[in-house]
Amino acid sequence: MTQQATTSNPDMARSPTHGGSNTAHAYYRPKIFFMIIIMLSIVSNTRVIRHLSLHSNSKTLQYYRLMARGNKSGSMYSNEYATVSVNEKTKRSSTPVFASSADLPLCSRDDIRVGSWQPVTLKSPPYVPRTVHLRCYPEDVYQQGFWNTYDWQPSSTDCSFASWDPDQFCRLLYRATILVIGDSLSWEHYRSLNHLLGNRGVHQSDQHQSKKFQGNVVYYVCPQHQTRLVFRRDDLLTNVSQAIFNEGTFPHVIVMNRGAHYKNDTVLLTDLREIIREIQAWQEECSLRSIKCHFFWRTSVPGHPQCNHSATSFSAPVNDIEKMEAMIADLSLYNNRTLEYHWFDYQHQNLLVEELLQHELLPPKPDTIISNENVLQILDAYYLNVLRPDEHRAHQGDCLHNCYPGKMDVYSRMLFHYLLQQRSQKDIGDLIAWQDKLFGNETRRHRSK
Ligand SMILES: *[C@@H]1O[C@H](CO)[C@@H](O)[C@H](O)[C@H]1NC(C)=O
Ligand SMILES: *[C@@H]1O[C@H](CO)[C@@H](O)[C@H](O)[C@H]1NC(C)=O
Ligand SMILES: *[C@@H]1O[C@H](CO)[C@@H](O)[C@H](O)[C@H]1NC(C)=O
Ligand SMILES: *[C@@H]1O[C@H](CO)[C@@H](O)[C@H](O)[C@H]1NC(C)=O
Ligand SMILES: *[C@@H]1O[C@H](CO)[C@@H](O)[C@H](O)[C@H]1NC(C)=O
Ligand SMILES: *[C@@H]1O[C@H](CO)[C@@H](O)[C@H](O)[C@H]1NC(C)=O
Repeated sequence: MTQQATTSNPDMARSPTHGGSNTAHAYYRPKIFFMIIIMLSIVSNTRVIRHLSLHSNSKTLQYYRLMARGNKSGSMYSNEYATVSVNEKTKRSSTPVFASSADLPLCSRDDIRVGSWQPVTLKSPPYVPRTVHLRCYPEDVYQQGFWNTYDWQPSSTDCSFASWDPDQFCRLLYRATILVIGDSLSWEHYRSLNHLLGNRGVHQSDQHQSKKFQGNVVYYVCPQHQTRLVFRRDDLLTNVSQAIFNEGTFPHVIVMNRGAHYKNDTVLLTDLREIIREIQAWQEECSLRSIKCHFFWRTSVPGHPQCNHSATSFSAPVNDIEKMEAMIADLSLYNNRTLEYHWFDYQHQNLLVEELLQHELLPPKPDTIISNENVLQILDAYYLNVLRPDEHRAHQGDCLHNCYPGKMDVYSRMLFHYLLQQRSQKDIGDLIAWQDKLFGNETRRHRSK
């Protein structure tokens, strides 16, 4: 399919007997593109070379761009419209996907949603962002040989909340693409996920580039860069289909949010209906390919008004939801600027959104035999964040965004936890099989040239 874009007639390019000068021209031109792009991708290393495709909407160019990036190591395989590298030796691991840390069953959503933050001392922070203003503490705190932090502990004790395990995460998401789409708070999740998977190269400016150029940010993670992490900055989710279908990075997992750029209930729900249709189109595409895709909606998280004022500032979590919700609802703590953020309306809108998503995405009579959690899973960011008035970027006067590492890392842990529940060995195999089928075709086309 992608190959067809390089010449008006793919059969002519393949057959030497039809190899007139026009065909040769059509055949060599993309090769030159390919070389230029390889050179550019070497210069830019693992960074997204988004600007390349901004100058051209040509599918050919995009294809070669992604192929060049994917050819850094290992062999090639086709990942939908694009190409990603894999190391055949690490492929088809026989390690079981399931390995719960305890003998307890994995917690349900309701078990994880409500809980408390408990102090824990680690040997070191899980990562330290290079960008200084994203940190809450001076350099020596990160380097002192231990890391005092807090762990999200679900209220239920008769189930287990999976510990973050990057190796298992990579196995579950073998050759998969994850799209995180939303505003700057979704970016916090995306950035955290990259860090937790060992990618320190994420640039804070990527999210602004994504917004400015309406394009996807792409990084490869996991052994042999087998898993693709995609971010799209789209505050109001006005361009979801474009991010899913037109960027050469078709996702198998989507984590989506809208809410912090406040619109009233009417506007929100009207827009959401359109967004739901786009999600359904994506889910249909997954079914057509017989691959399991996973949809997550992350709930919106309000800021804590006056987190930067000494009287109301906090240096630790407050495990008291009523107290924290009362603070967020207290209009006397807002000024004319912060009033416009409508933080006090977020939870009300979270509930409206969840209700509509459930109504539209899930069948009226849920089938008790076939699990459909992958069709809609809520990532409950609200509760756990409301208990954290600390570690906002208060040093910048910002009571909404957060310092890394921290609260947002729990989203990735939740994502992992739910994917453990949803994703079977067969689902992993289906994705490989589907890609191999395409790869075979691509290989034949390349060889035939
Ligand atoms: C991948 O790159 C190597 C050189 O690093 C090259 O020999 C090979 O042909 C490339 N493979 C594809 C499919 O482009
Ligand atoms: C969606 O993205 C495309 C391509 O990046 C852009 O041309 C278009 O203006 C965007 N549409 C909206 C509504 O933002
Ligand atoms: C919601 O906002 C829209 C657009 O700003 C406005 O036209 C509409 O009257 C508002 N609706 C309510 C109920 O406030
Ligand atoms: C806030 O807005 C109100 C009404 O619009 C105005 O009277 C008041 O002076 C404003 N306060 C500040 C601090 O700007
Ligand atoms: C509050 O924010 C301002 C910037 O807006 C900053 O200069 C000041 O240091 C902050 N105060 C605290 C206690 O973090
Ligand atoms: C790949 O080739 C197989 C048979 O060789 C064919 O059935 C299938 O439709 C092809 N797929 C694509 C995407 O061209």
